[in-house]
Amino acid sequence: MPAFIDQLKRCQQRVERALDARLPDATLAPTSLHAAMRYVTLDGGKRVRASLVYAAGFAVDAADAALDVPACAIELIHAYSLVHDDLPSMDNDDLRRGKPTCHKAYDEATALLVGDALQSLAFELLSQDPLLTISAAQRLRMLALLAQAAGSQGMAGGQAIDLASAGKQLSLTQLEDMHRRKTGALIHAAVMLGAYAQEQTQAVKLQALEQYARAVGLAFQITDDILDVEGRAETLGKNPGVDHARGKPTYTSLLGLAEAKNRAKMLHATALESLKPLGDNGGLLADLAEFIIERRQ
Ligand code: IPE
Ligand code: IPE
Ligand code: MG
Ligand code: MG
Ligand code: MG
Repeated sequence: MPAFIDQLKRCQQRVERALDARLPDATLAPTSLHAAMRYVTLDGGKRVRASLVYAAGFAVDAADAALDVPACAIELIHAYSLVHDDLPSMDNDDLRRGKPTCHKAYDEATALLVGDALQSLAFELLSQDPLLTISAAQRLRMLALLAQAAGSQGMAGGQAIDLASAGKQLSLTQLEDMHRRKTGALIHAAVMLGAYAQEQTQAVKLQALEQYARAVGLAFQITDDILDVEGRAETLGKNPGVDHARGKPTYTSLLGLAEAKNRAKMLHATALESLKPLGDNGGLLADLAEFIIERRQ
């Protein structure tokens, strides 16, 4: 899939430039907070969520320029979630995106504030970045979507369940619920933010994207669980084996590697099936679904 790799690279470069232009300069006071925000956001990460924004926007013929802002917003929320996820009081990890985690490179208080500030910046951009030329009502729809996905019934809530579940055995239903919240919610939001950049999308296409988003959202965290078992630090950019060490319930610990892979494949098939109403325009989303379950990083 060399054509896909090129498209993915284009999405990655595009969001990198857009983020670089929107993050406060590291020479601006408070300089160490701004330097840390840039350290955790720029030059790293696969940019899957930004790519989903671009791909979903493309699938519904959204104006191209309108996609950079939601792409930045979702990556900022994601970067914040990683910074906090790595803190000693959460997963206590020291390697992220091939570099020392924020609290290692800076300190814990800075890592907390970096998360706070990245989250605020995401909502600031969605609310007033001039490049996003949609109606005020549609901006509000985007803001509500992202706020709910990041909040106590979405990512933050999933993280709370994750922390409370260490050392415990969850049922498959409980595990799926946790994964859908802690990771699926932001992946779902990425797809729907791209879709919302076009205000006239037919309901049948929105529904198709909803279904696709839910399938790849869960598949993403199942693959993350698999990579914690099979991955290597050099390619992952983070230390593998940490879920097991911390007694985290995962798809691999509950079902074993083979069945976890099987579930990811089934969700991939569901995702592809969901894309049918989008026709050829759903091609990049289809490739991203495959990337999400086949990735080694
Ligand atoms: C890692 O996400 C955290 C999860 C939600 C599983 P990614 O695998 O997308 O991390 P980056 O952005 O590429 O570093
Ligand atoms: C990711 O779960 C959840 C987030 C919301 C950041 P993990 O804790 O498994 O993510 P990694 O493996 O540290 O990237
Ligand atoms: Mg975690
Ligand atoms: Mg973690
Ligand atoms: Mg993980």
